[in-house]
Amino acid sequence: MRRILPLLFMTTAACEFGLPAGSEPHREFNFLDMADQPKMKPQRGDIFGGNTTGMQAPPPKSLAQHDNPYPYTQAEADKAGAELVNPLTATPTSLKRGKFIFENVCIACHGKEAAGDGLVTKLFPKPPSLMTQRVRDFSDGRIFHVPMRGQNSMPSHEKIVAQQDLWAVVLYIRELQGRLPVAPPPPAAQPAGGVTP
Ligand code: HEC
Repeated sequence: MRRILPLLFMTTAACEFGLPAGSEPHREFNFLDMADQPKMKPQRGDIFGGNTTGMQAPPPKSLAQHDNPYPYTQAEADKAGAELVNPLTATPTSLKRGKFIFENVCIACHGKEAAGDGLVTKLFPKPPSLMTQRVRDFSDGRIFHVPMRGQNSMPSHEKIVAQQDLWAVVLYIRELQGRLPVAPPPPAAQPAGGVTP
């Protein structure tokens, strides 16, 4: 037992400090609380406070590159939907761009075919399918408004996706709607006309 205890201690200490068991301790070994210091782990909230989504908050009033400030508040979804016009038309290039952005940004929650089955939905509230009649009836501007301002648990993408790219995503969602069947409304039916917080 007398022999085992020190051995046990050394093995545990080596694991604690990330040393492969049996290797020589390097000089940082003296900093006993190194493993214990305040530090950021990836995807654990942000150091500037408040944001728990794992994304670091960009400085206040920042915009995606080349963008203009977006004039509508989150509650003005219907107004944005009525006034905004998609500046893009569906071409192989714009659809390819929309697919690219969708499959890099929206896919995590919405899933490859926008059915609301993205990989994070085991941990995150499941989004409704974007193939429902409800979203088909949205104007392009109304679809655009949701990622710009966020909606309930969906965060705003204003600072991370350029507006031009979001319009391309809208075209891509329309293209999906054109070739995929209409999805039934989600079980917890959402209030008609959009969810205004
Ligand atoms: C972090 C997860 C997440 C990401 C990323 C995300 N969404 Fe969402 N989205 C949601 C959730 C959750 C909802 C449902 C919000 C609610 O309860 O009203 C939603 C709702 C929507 C709606 C409204 C559907 C409806 O029936 O009201 C649209 C449109 C939409 N998202 C588009 C997008 C687009 C386009 C992108 C990519 C640019 C995107 N979302 C990225 C989670 C996400």
